[in-house]
Amino acid sequence: MEYALKCIDCGEEYDNDALYTCPNCGSLLEVKLSPDIEVDFKLDGINLRVWKYASLLPVKIRPISLNEGGTPLFETELGECKVYVKHEGLNPSGSFKDRGMTVGITKAIELGKKAVACASTGNTSASMAMYAAKANLKAYVLLPAGKVALGKVAQALMHGARVIGIKANFDVALDLVRRISEEENFYLLNSVNPFRLEGQKTIAFEIVDELGYVPDRVILPVGNAGNISAIFKGFSELKQFGLIDEIPKMVGVQAEGASPIYKAFKEGKKDITPELRPETIATAIRIGNPVNARKALRAIYDSGGTSITVTDDEITNAQITLATKEGIGVEPASAASVAGFKKLEGEGEIDKDETIVCITTGHLLKDPETVIRICGEPIEVEAELDMIKEVL
Ligand code: F0G
Repeated sequence: MEYALKCIDCGEEYDNDALYTCPNCGSLLEVKLSPDIEVDFKLDGINLRVWKYASLLPVKIRPISLNEGGTPLFETELGECKVYVKHEGLNPSGSFKDRGMTVGITKAIELGKKAVACASTGNTSASMAMYAAKANLKAYVLLPAGKVALGKVAQALMHGARVIGIKANFDVALDLVRRISEEENFYLLNSVNPFRLEGQKTIAFEIVDELGYVPDRVILPVGNAGNISAIFKGFSELKQFGLIDEIPKMVGVQAEGASPIYKAFKEGKKDITPELRPETIATAIRIGNPVNARKALRAIYDSGGTSITVTDDEITNAQITLATKEGIGVEPASAASVAGFKKLEGEGEIDKDETIVCITTGHLLKDPETVIRICGEPIEVEAELDMIKEVL
């Protein structure tokens, strides 16, 4: 398979998979596929999973896989137009990160690494720990102490990662883990890693594969901004290889209290001003200095998309609607996509003949504590029929 790592700013190309950033100018790299590649899959709606698309995934060895991808695309009653929800919470570790990890961990093995590391708001660490276990690699995790949902910490711990909480937010943790990884020769699996994002682009492939056409918009939550960049890249490659003609509008939804991408977009800028104290109920996207901001803004501008913010109440309402009306259980950050859709629809931005895909990025069980805060504890009564009937 032919590819190079290309700098997103100076355009320099490298044939060295061990790089994360451009030795020339320091910017992020992305995988540039050779136009000579022969696509060996059909968008026929069957056998959906990440490695169906192996001919567009830059690895050289047999992948470390836990059967990721192939997540359901649910048709819903959420709007006046056709609204689908692609539930990435149904991946092996319960989030979309698994698509990236199968590729990232495989690359770690290819490069002969013995240990992997990440900073995380939770899901990346859960997924990395799981795949590192499968690949027999050591895993090191830095988390913002007290700000990661319980289910995610539990996963990272049980899968055997060394989990360290630091008294700072995600952005600081990421900065620290980048330095530690360099010094300790850990393979860094945050979304600065261009190979991880390659796995995540398969969300775009699956959407077209399953729908049989290109939707008008893809709406998703944005935190560190890797996923929106990856999905846009996926659509762009389908177009490059002649499999589709159009790219959907990419809509990046941020929480009001953590919205640097939204603010940059509003001002027509190509880069963000970092926020020092991001805060939101959606802890997964509680990020003030997204590393992929420049890629994400490019994805939004180039696709004719937009960025919006939603409040914590709007996120909670969307989470409740998904759970109680559609039977789709998601964590708060995931509900931001649907909250964002409702907002755009409310503002009259969406035509009735559009097809929308909202990505729900993580499973409800990731964050049980928030659920209890919203729903309260179950009612407890004595084990007597009369008393049970009284509270039914
Ligand atoms: N939704 C969920 C559930 C997430 O866990 C994340 C990111 C996002 C959305 C945003 O994706 O960063 O690619 O824009 N979680 C990371 C983590 C930061 O550490 O688990 P993004």
